Amino acid sequence: MMRPTRAAPGGARNQQGRVSRPTHSRAQIPARRNAVRTFAKKPAKQRNIFEGQRPWVEVVDGKPVSGPDLSCVVDGVKFPNPFVIGSGPPGTNYHVMKKAFDEGWGGVIAKTVTLDSSKVINVTPRYARMKSSSNQKEVIGWENIELVSDRPFEKMMQEFKRLKDEYPDRVLIASIMEEYNKDAWEELIGRCEECGVDIFELNFSCPHGMPERRMGAAMGQDCELLEEVCGWVNDAANIPVWAKMTPNITDITSPGKVALDAGLEGLAAINTIQSVMGVNLDTLRPEPCVEGYSTPGGYSSKAVKPIALAKVMSLATMIKEKYDGGKSLSGIGGVETGMDATEFMLLGCDTVQVCTGVMIHGYPLVQNLCAEVQEFMTQHNFESIDDFRGASLPYFTSHTKLVQLQKEAQERKKKKVGLKSDEEWTGDGFTKETESMVSN
Ligand SMILES: Cc1cc2nc3c(=O)[nH]c(=O)nc-3n(C[C@H](O)[C@H](O)[C@H](O)COP(=O)(O)O)c2cc1C
Repeated sequence: MMRPTRAAPGGARNQQGRVSRPTHSRAQIPARRNAVRTFAKKPAKQRNIFEGQRPWVEVVDGKPVSGPDLSCVVDGVKFPNPFVIGSGPPGTNYHVMKKAFDEGWGGVIAKTVTLDSSKVINVTPRYARMKSSSNQKEVIGWENIELVSDRPFEKMMQEFKRLKDEYPDRVLIASIMEEYNKDAWEELIGRCEECGVDIFELNFSCPHGMPERRMGAAMGQDCELLEEVCGWVNDAANIPVWAKMTPNITDITSPGKVALDAGLEGLAAINTIQSVMGVNLDTLRPEPCVEGYSTPGGYSSKAVKPIALAKVMSLATMIKEKYDGGKSLSGIGGVETGMDATEFMLLGCDTVQVCTGVMIHGYPLVQNLCAEVQEFMTQHNFESIDDFRGASLPYFTSHTKLVQLQKEAQERKKKKVGLKSDEEWTGDGFTKETESMVSN
């Protein structure tokens, strides 16, 4: 059902059926192609964290001061760049969200709020890292057993309002989560809208902490429950709504379709993957260890990127086929570089979120993301994100089709590619035979 009030004030749905709200007015900085400043100098006080190692560009009010234009309009909301702080510690309070806007993030998704934060009690330690075996400084995986925001709802609302008053042209997204209770969802939505937030992200995906209250992933895995809750939210909200999906499910497109069929504007994926970081071989206790015990948590950071890309690919394909591309998609999972972000956009994402990457590298990371995506665009002569968003999606097919394509290619080239069958593997030539079938 089309929501008559969602597009107001002054907005309408565009041809794809997305809500088009008035875009924020800001003088456009002309896109100067081939102008990404690699290793540019910055005043000593504001040095980029990767200066000398990675390209970066100065970002003012969310816009890179040089290079191709990164702005985008998603569900009628204008983002100065597609990089968004993912819900979590980097969006816990006014000070950190202000820092994110000051460093240039296109949008911020605040830490998930619920009406009654007194039920949220966190423990410490609540994080555990997986490090590279060759470089102990490099974090490749991150587990957390952190719950949603433990800050009073009223305080969070005051801070949302203050941020929107101070940064009216920047995108503030409220991540919300509640129990199976229509009144609670309606109250949460009404209160957040009063503060001026631009978009809602529904947390249907936190894998730990609240299953006994049928919240988070417990709700996101139950399509019947989801259909009802998304219906309530869709009727109550006057701004665009994204449903954040859990990867802890066999087919992520099933709950995705339920959320979009209920009328929501978009999807976000992925939240963390259920995990146990490891077991301490001296104490025999699992990590992260709290008073000798642990509980399964959520896995994030670099290691989850391939899984996130697969889930995003499934959702983007479903959106293309079932909704003719008329729904939005926000990609999340292991993004630390502009190249990572570009891969998500090539698979159909409108925006790209970063959570753990900011916890490890800090807020100035956005300057590197912008410069690295600009370098990619310059290299390929792309003028806007729309020029390449979803461009790699058509190159997925079935395994049967791969076999057929290879057979045809071999016949054309009369050339052997790899082993013909498992019969040909040998013990002595094993590594060479493996190498002959690797693509990169
Ligand atoms: C410490 C921590 C806390 C998080 N808290 C939330 C949360 O409150 N709400 C939510 O929707 N996602 C939460 N997430 C999940 C992230 O938003 C994100 O979906 C996930 O970590 C994968 O992205 P990343 O690899 O960039 O971190 C949290 C992640 C971490 C690491």
